[in-house]
Amino acid sequence: MILALRRNPLEIWSKAHYEQPILMGNTILGERAVVNEPAAVRRIFLDNSANYRKDALQLRVLGLGLGNGLLTVDGEDWRAQRRALAPLFSARQIPAFAPAMHRVAVAAVARLAPKREGRVVDVSVEMARVTLEMLEQTLFSQGLGRDASEFQVAMTRYFDTIGRIDPLDLLGAPQFLPRFGRLRGRGALEFFARAVDNIIGARKSLLASGAGAPNDILTLLLAAQDPETGKGISEDDVRANIVTFIGAGHETTANALTWTLYLLSQAPDWRARVEAEIDAHFDPANVEGFAEALPVTKAVLEEALRLYPPAAMLSREAIGPDVLAGRRIRAGTVVTVSPFLLHRHRLLWKDPDAFDPERFLGANRDSIDRYAYIPFGAGPRVCIGMGFAMLEMMAVLGHLLRAFRFDLAPGHPVSPVARVTLRPAHGMKMILRRRQGAAM
Ligand code: HEM
Repeated sequence: MILALRRNPLEIWSKAHYEQPILMGNTILGERAVVNEPAAVRRIFLDNSANYRKDALQLRVLGLGLGNGLLTVDGEDWRAQRRALAPLFSARQIPAFAPAMHRVAVAAVARLAPKREGRVVDVSVEMARVTLEMLEQTLFSQGLGRDASEFQVAMTRYFDTIGRIDPLDLLGAPQFLPRFGRLRGRGALEFFARAVDNIIGARKSLLASGAGAPNDILTLLLAAQDPETGKGISEDDVRANIVTFIGAGHETTANALTWTLYLLSQAPDWRARVEAEIDAHFDPANVEGFAEALPVTKAVLEEALRLYPPAAMLSREAIGPDVLAGRRIRAGTVVTVSPFLLHRHRLLWKDPDAFDPERFLGANRDSIDRYAYIPFGAGPRVCIGMGFAMLEMMAVLGHLLRAFRFDLAPGHPVSPVARVTLRPAHGMKMILRRRQGAAM
């Protein structure tokens, strides 16, 4: 089990996991429950969420580097941070990022445009670059002050190492024992922390000089206040949250886009519908409102998030006893809710493994149980970047699919592997072709 968890945690699921509402077991990790019943999912994340905290293993795996960022803090600290950070990603604020999102998507098209017709590209690498630039241009509108590709290498290496669950973590070994696999990740993280410190330093001097502050997340973070207490965010927390936003918002979004392009390459009918919709209705001049005009594209994206949820496993530890799906949960039990399992569960979905965006179109969307579909989590700790991620992905798909068509390179093996996010194990090699008559 340890080997499978380290190789690919998806491998530990058996047929029963896809068929039962709840599975309980005693493992070397202690008592565990894997929960697949929407009412129980709702209880964990919403109705009784005060009884479930982020579990120690998750915090150990993510904790390195994300420090006291929003994703990994708990209790009152989390509440205060969430209140202070919520306005950064509110429905009012997100449209302000749309112009930058379009610019970055246009730049991605321009990068691919000179490539030879029929050239094979690794779409997962391209998407990682686009989503990092999205964050760069919205977090720090004046850039990272470093070569973006240097950042990307550091980030990929970081995730590759922290994303592998270390046997010492599974065994609960104390943190002072070195996890050798992580040392490489630590170097990447130090690179990262230094770069972010430089950026914060530069911004503070800019603000101190009386120059106007750019409207980006860094300015918002430095000015953010808890609306209840009026307290600002400490510099450590600003740094931790910048790393957190990049950590939580980079690979997740890149993988969702990569899986979307893959699924479309396997479904020519849907691809034709998306292309027709984009040709007729995608209007980048409608900077903020463009996404509403693309319901088919959005349904395709939502279906991709169902089949390949980038955050494939969520977990919590029960603080006190509870009852979930008719089973008694003891204090200390680690409860796993896997969006990957839930979204492909035999009891919850018709033809669960089939790619069918129709599920998300029109009235069909209303019949999906809110707690059977949780690519962004649920309840008070739902992804704070959800609206941001949806808008940037729609912008990328609009610009990219207007210009190109992607087909899977013959013989390229496709299989999902769960690191921190759900990645394609071998990247995603695709053949790039220009669309006829496409405006470039
Ligand atoms: C397709 C893209 C994304 C997916 C699938 C995704 C998924 C998730 C999920 C499932 C959670 C909940 C984790 C849990 O309950 O244990 C979460 C939390 C979070 N996400 Fe995202 N995310 C995405 C993009 C982003 C972006 C773009 C950002 C920031 C720019 C972001 C920042 C965060 C943060 C800070 C949290 C922690 C929220 C809290 O605990 O209060 N995410 N995300």
